[in-house]
Order: sequence, then C-alpha cells, then structure tokens
Amino acid sequence: MAGAPVPEFSSRDPASPRFWDERFDKAFTPWERGGAPAQLRRFVAGAARPLAALVPGAGSARELALMCEAGWDATAIDFSPVAVAQAQALAGPWAGRVVEADFFAYAPPLPLDLVYEQAFLCALPRQRRPDVARRWEALLAPGGLLAGYFFFDDAPKGPPFGVKRDELEGLLAAGFDCVADEAVEDSIPVFAGKERWMVWRRKS
Ligand SMILES: C[S@@+](CC[C@H](N)C(=O)[O-])C[C@H]1O[C@@H](n2cnc3c(N)ncnc32)[C@H](O)[C@@H]1O
Repeated sequence: MAGAPVPEFSSRDPASPRFWDERFDKAFTPWERGGAPAQLRRFVAGAARPLAALVPGAGSARELALMCEAGWDATAIDFSPVAVAQAQALAGPWAGRVVEADFFAYAPPLPLDLVYEQAFLCALPRQRRPDVARRWEALLAPGGLLAGYFFFDDAPKGPPFGVKRDELEGLLAAGFDCVADEAVEDSIPVFAGKERWMVWRRKS
C-alpha cells in the first residue's frame, strides 16, 4: 500500500500469509483506519436485529468490538498468524472471536447474515477475484448481505489492487443486487476519493 516509508521485505506475494506477517511484524499497515469507520457504525446501529457476521481478512479487526458490543455474533478471520495475534491482543473480551483461517477454506459454524468487506478484495492478486466473488456467494443464503468498502482504481501495482466498477459489477451481478452505493466521508489517505460504501444483497 502507498503512503508510508517502506521497510525491507522478503515476501512479495500477497497470496501468502508470510507477506502479511512481515508487514504486521514491521508495523507497516497503511491500510489501517484505526477504528470502525462511520458508515459501518451507522449500519450496525441501524440493523433491525443482531446479525451473524464474518469479517474476512480482518487484519487487526478493529470493527469486531463494534459488532460484538451490538450483540452481533461476529467472527474475524485472517490467515496471517501475526495479524491474528495482534487482533486478539486488541480485541479484549472478544479475542476468542478472532480465528486464524484461510477465507477460501473457512466454514462458518452458523449460517451468516453478513460478510463485511474492508481492504480484503483489494489485498488479493487480481486473478483471485472470481474466487472471492464465488466464495461470498457460497457463504450467504438468499437475502444475506455483503457490505463494506470497495476500492476503485486502475493503478497496475498493488496492493491495494483497485477494481473497476464494471469489473466489480460483472463479478457480483449473477449473485447479488446492489442496494447501497455511497461516497465515503472518512477515508484514510490510501483510499481517499477512490472508495465507496456498498451493500449487496444475495439474490434468491
Ligand atoms: C490489506 S489487509 C486489510 C486488513 C483489514 N481488513 C483492514 O481493513 O484493516 C488484508 C488482510 O487480508 C488477509 N488475507 C489475505 N488473504 C487472505 C486469505 N486467503 N484468508 C484470510 N485472510 C487473508 C491478510 O493477512 C491481511 O491481514
């Protein structure tokens, strides 16, 4: 990710947990918002009932406490052991809800109402996008929601790897309807002017 001095790293493959371990180890995490962002806060406050939620690629999982304190059955997963350890240390009473797992293999113990997206799709190599979209579909029953922040950009180098709007729509159109699409008011510099808060509902 751009915007901060870059330490030396030995891993260059963002599909590997080691890539992310190194970055968390060296505290090079320019994607970190430092807390739960405004549109997520409003979404959680406005939910008609507590939701069963999954946060894939959660990193330090700062949104987990917000969800759990609202009574949600939320779980944060990440395949980087260093990220998981840091998230557990930050999560206080919710530490047990941070799980080391690969998104592509994780089987939630309960049916999900919501998958939360934040800097996960844009962290993965572009060729994995169809797999991510199919996994989102598989994790959610009809009516389930995919909500969060989507990063739109066409710079070739990453992460973050931005997506083009027509590509995102192409990935999701078969399985989801877009029910919210808003500008983001509290972006951090890495994402400023290039992200949207979106909610996609799983089709029946
Ligand atoms: C750019 S960071 C974003 C972290 C967090 N969502 C945030 O916004 O602060 C991407 C995260 O996705 C995780 N990740 C990448 N591929 C993954 C996979 N296949 N399964 C689980 N986590 C993965 C990385 O370890 C890293 O913590």
